[in-house]
Amino acid sequence: MTVCLTTAPRPGDGGRVSDGRTTVAKTNYSLVNKTTGETLELPSVQGTLGPTGLDVGRVYDTLDVFTYDPGFTSTCSCKSAITYIDGDAGVLLYRGYPVQQLAEKSSFIEVCYLILYGELPTKAQLEEFDTTIRKHTMINESLKGFYSGFHYDAHPMAMMTGIVGSLSAFYHDTTNIRDPKHRDIFARRMIAKIPTIAATAYKKYFGQPFMYPQNHLDYCSNLLYMMFAVPAEPYHVDPVAAKALDVLFILHADHEQNASTSTVRLAGSTGCNPYAAIAAGIAALWGPAHGGANEAVLRMLDQIGDAKKVASFLDKVKDKQSGVRLMGFGHRVYKNFDPRATIIREQCHKVLKHLGKENDPQMELALELERVALSDDYFKERKLYPNVDFYSGIIYKALGIPVNMFTPMFAIARTVGWCAHWTEMTADPANRIGRPRQVYTGAPERHYLPIAKRK
Ligand code: ACO
Repeated sequence: MTVCLTTAPRPGDGGRVSDGRTTVAKTNYSLVNKTTGETLELPSVQGTLGPTGLDVGRVYDTLDVFTYDPGFTSTCSCKSAITYIDGDAGVLLYRGYPVQQLAEKSSFIEVCYLILYGELPTKAQLEEFDTTIRKHTMINESLKGFYSGFHYDAHPMAMMTGIVGSLSAFYHDTTNIRDPKHRDIFARRMIAKIPTIAATAYKKYFGQPFMYPQNHLDYCSNLLYMMFAVPAEPYHVDPVAAKALDVLFILHADHEQNASTSTVRLAGSTGCNPYAAIAAGIAALWGPAHGGANEAVLRMLDQIGDAKKVASFLDKVKDKQSGVRLMGFGHRVYKNFDPRATIIREQCHKVLKHLGKENDPQMELALELERVALSDDYFKERKLYPNVDFYSGIIYKALGIPVNMFTPMFAIARTVGWCAHWTEMTADPANRIGRPRQVYTGAPERHYLPIAKRK
């Protein structure tokens, strides 16, 4: 059977219209079974920006075929009003606001409010939100026992996955996901506690005493305090370091339907405990193709070691047999500069200058790697540009954060995005369990053979 997709301009609307940022195709689409002539009109799902979605939900029922899109390159899994990306133009908007403006003018806590509730807060709203987040930073004392159960060299991401999952045991009976108030408590609690959970994993890794949060400190200062302070001496939070983290967190706060957010949505679509859904997101984020890339970039720079070896390293990257990738380069959606990478690059220079590390050899190596890759046809043809993770690791390292804490930093920042997506999905009465189909490639039906008869 052949099925073909046909398009026809909608009567009366003249084909394509421009809405200022994107050109929206106003076209009717239908699928035609060329053998039987059966036609299925595909209703279009129109957003405010970006390409039209084609509703293929009735394709199987009507034409008895599935749509096939491994990696979901052309598939929208949902409608969402949180974040918009135009990968060709290098645009990223949170609730309509360009990320550049937010990174320059806002704070992470304000951006959390914006992402969760859809609007920038008034002064009173921000104060109330900030106060609640500050008041809920402590974690249950019995969680200390959970940390003790981990092996001394457990990766902090492994600990975070476990500890966040265990929150479902603490708040199981008190979380009614159908109640908007409970959903809000969940989101605020998660955002408040995730820095404490990450910092405690850091302390466990180094065998240092856990430090309780100090609620007079702002979000990022508190995180730095919990990571770097020790009970034996006073600790002064460097405001430049706290500001740099704040900007990094704004840039990482949400990124629409990336792998970890889609994981949170898929897990959450079953109606499972939301803390367990966030734990699933943390697990997905850890992979080197996703949030684990910031750690992988630093390991790659260590491995290259010297700017003189950049050319031979890139030869290895271009050789598909080697299995080596240029970490921190390439993105599924951005086929132009990742706008976050541009801001992080600037931040990187600021932080290194402030810390007197302007001539940091790793920064010089990263710049050389970027320069050579961007002028190489392999990367140009495939539209591979530095992504958010190419420079973030260098800042983290300059701030004294060890390499295995880079991805936990990302997880802290992305928690608000995960919570907002979970909330948006759960509040939607049309939400259904996520259940993809497959093209089966296994053995056809056959009969069970007793073991004595098997060869
Ligand atoms: N180094 C070398 N080649 C690359 C790279 C890279 N980093 N990224 C993509 N390519 C090549 C692929 O080999 C492929 O080449 P081909 O057409 O000759 O087969 C082509 O570019 C397309 O790549 P895909 O893997 O199909 O792209 P996809 O969209 O599936 O993957 C991804 C995107 C996972 C981010 C990829 O670019 C990658 O592995 N990058 C390195 C890891 C990384 O930095 N991840 C962080 C992403 S940002 C984030 O999650 C926060």
